Amino acid sequence: SGQSEYNLRSPICCIMGHVDTGKTKLLDCIRGTNVQEGEAGGITQQIGATYFPAENIRERTKELKPDANLNVPGLLVIDTPGHESFTNLRSRGSGLCDVAILVVDIMHGLERQTIESLNLLKMRNTNFVIALNKVDRLYGWKVCHNASIVKAMKQQSKDVQFEFRTRLTQVITEFKEQGINTELYYKNKDMGKGTFSIVPTSAISAEGIPDLLLLLVQWTAKTMSERLTYSNIVQCTVLEVKVVEGHGTTIDVILVNGVLHEGDSIVVCGMHGPIVTSIRALLTPFPMKELRVKGSYEHHREIKASQGIKINAQGLEHAIAGTSLYIVGPDDDVEDIKEAAMED
Ligand code: GTP
Ligand code: MG
Ligand code: NA
Repeated sequence: SGQSEYNLRSPICCIMGHVDTGKTKLLDCIRGTNVQEGEAGGITQQIGATYFPAENIRERTKELKPDANLNVPGLLVIDTPGHESFTNLRSRGSGLCDVAILVVDIMHGLERQTIESLNLLKMRNTNFVIALNKVDRLYGWKVCHNASIVKAMKQQSKDVQFEFRTRLTQVITEFKEQGINTELYYKNKDMGKGTFSIVPTSAISAEGIPDLLLLLVQWTAKTMSERLTYSNIVQCTVLEVKVVEGHGTTIDVILVNGVLHEGDSIVVCGMHGPIVTSIRALLTPFPMKELRVKGSYEHHREIKASQGIKINAQGLEHAIAGTSLYIVGPDDDVEDIKEAAMED
């Protein structure tokens, strides 16, 4: 809807961090969903994707900045698991994103997979913001639902403010030990030039959520316009291969650039060689819904990047997650594309 008025595609934002820091809960808070409580053991075990249209972000940030000019169609957020056994999924997620949110539990500071995630981001030179989550757990926290963090902090007692500053200082020190300069986002004059921004948040009472969203979309649109300029060349990665009742074997993909159409000939890397097939159905969850959660889907004739998409096609059973999906254009030699697909 109205995406053609934009030259920029939606930024892809990966949310990363140690297990149970609140990554999925933060997304639930923004979506108004309850994905986290439906997870086995409360642990994320797959990569997820959720599309947030600009109008929803505008609504959520209007207290902080009414009618913010967002310049991007929306934000595509990729949820990753924090459990130590899913390093490959964190790596896949971080490899796809334009920007990241690194979530740190204010009560725990930097933990093992926080540092692992940080190293993945450093390796790829990916910019990120830090969500210093669970501020509502500071002793005596007064809830200010969906308030900006500055406003919420002003409402707190001297004791809460003191505990906050102490824990914040500790976290800043721990980042420094990892060679990373950090600062509260509204004090950070050096953002994108070596000092990373910290946004205190609560995924339960939503303080700091407007700040986090506004910072992400405005900053990416401002500083990454070249990277985010829409291109017709299809760039698409397979996230998961799964059987969906009523849809057979499907693949969940992230379309980073270009357009996919129903009926397009595609090639994906398979366990027993390249899979050449054609798109039978292009499905997305509704906006603000999680791709990895069973639900109803919207059917599309075509979809423009960036999006998380479920593709239904024949012969996908042996497709390999983490590889690229290729389109066979009218002038393409399918043998060349089969070769490229298997090189992934
Ligand atoms: P994995 O995906 O398994 O790595 O965990 P996660 O980072 O997605 O954390 P998750 O959303 O599963 O939250 C872990 C636990 O922390 C849950 O019990 C949440 O309810 C709780 N939690 C998350 N965010 C907050 C918060 O801001 N405040 C409080 N009090 N609890 C939170
Ligand atoms: Mg999670
Ligand atoms: Na969890």
